[in-house]
Amino acid sequence: MPTVAIIGAQWGDEGKGKITDYLAEKADAVVRFQGGNNAGHTIVIGDSVFKLHLLPSGVLRKDKLAVIGNGVVVNFADMAEEVKQIEDAGLGIDGLRISDRAHLIMNYHKKLDGAEEVYRGNASVGTTKKGIGPTYQDKIARYGFRAGDLLEPELIREKTKFLLPMKKDLMKLMGSETCNCSEDDFAERLIGWGQKYGKYICDTSVLINDMLDEGKNILFEGAQGAMLDIDHGTYPYVTSSSTVGGGICSGAGVAPNRIQKVVGCLKAYTTRVGEGPFVTELEGAEEEELQKKGGEFGVTTGRGRRCGWLDLVVAEHAARLCGITSWAITKLDVLNGYEKIKVCVGYEIDGKVEKHFPASIAKLERAKPVYEEFDGWEDWEDSEALVSAGMDSLPENMQKYIRFIEEYTGIPADIISIGPKRSETIDRTSGWWN
Ligand code: IMP
Repeated sequence: MPTVAIIGAQWGDEGKGKITDYLAEKADAVVRFQGGNNAGHTIVIGDSVFKLHLLPSGVLRKDKLAVIGNGVVVNFADMAEEVKQIEDAGLGIDGLRISDRAHLIMNYHKKLDGAEEVYRGNASVGTTKKGIGPTYQDKIARYGFRAGDLLEPELIREKTKFLLPMKKDLMKLMGSETCNCSEDDFAERLIGWGQKYGKYICDTSVLINDMLDEGKNILFEGAQGAMLDIDHGTYPYVTSSSTVGGGICSGAGVAPNRIQKVVGCLKAYTTRVGEGPFVTELEGAEEEELQKKGGEFGVTTGRGRRCGWLDLVVAEHAARLCGITSWAITKLDVLNGYEKIKVCVGYEIDGKVEKHFPASIAKLERAKPVYEEFDGWEDWEDSEALVSAGMDSLPENMQKYIRFIEEYTGIPADIISIGPKRSETIDRTSGWWN
């Protein structure tokens, strides 16, 4: 199976980093297709801990390409810090490739991100303030800088002449702190990035499609999650990119018939950061307990994540939109020791039970979760022993929980993660990824 995609089936932070790292072993290239350095995952190799936000997981593996597709937005200044982390550990970034069509995040985008949030007041989205939204706004408005521009100094100087004054005016208007740099300094900084990183910039669509023609394995690594999708998520409490399956095609430059397997990463409970509706959210001590047990604090922002029970209305929405063919169920161990565990199977809205995730935020605010309750399961001593014995050795009630998810969604749980380590993964992929 040469192409596999991994997509978050909730609001991000489902544990995609671990699953991507696990699946990346057999990939020749790991490709990101949307988002930017609003994502975040921690990778531990020996004694070194890497916190990556933009660079695809594959960048730490010598024998693989790590590709930033055209749908990603790239902040070169922040990327330089990630590169430094890697180089300081004695590793290189030889496998890095950046699409010449990828749009660039500038300092003014970050400032405008903050200013827009202030304007929104109580209706703020709770963005990561990395400039993601304003960069995608410029892309759609057709005046963004693209990575390929960095290789054309004259084009950079031309664009800077009208763009920088415009952005400075906009920042003033928005009451944001403005950039002091001159047009010359601004353009020269960009040209400098081109000189430094130009060798990594190329047409990544041609690269990926050529690799597929040669029978190479490509892993598409989604960031955020389906519920943060600009069209299908909890708008306006979403990110500004296409996080669903279709985003792979536009964001990596591959046709739909190239994508064969889509792994939906589904955390055994639900979390979200930032504002927006969350029907199964817990409150008070119950929420705090789950947050603590799951270590639910953001890698990018450090914010405590909101926590609640698993929501299969959400899972159905994600599965339908992304074409999910397998679940990777993560963080099941976090539920160890609970007496009762709830799973949401519908929303009661205005006296009716809805099975599909509604578009209306107002409706979602009125929605009450309809739960199925499961008996919990006990903690275990040695998860690696459980992994080698397979699914049947898991606590009986945990197996029931997993089977319920499979039956409700009609999708097999091909990967079951019962701890943060690679060795704490039950692999039921039975050869579809080799
Ligand atoms: P933005 O992507 O910074 O514009 O933020 C928009 C919304 O998406 C906010 O609610 C963020 O908290 C959320 N978000 C962005 N990236 C991630 C992520 O990687 N994990 C979880 N939530 C995210």
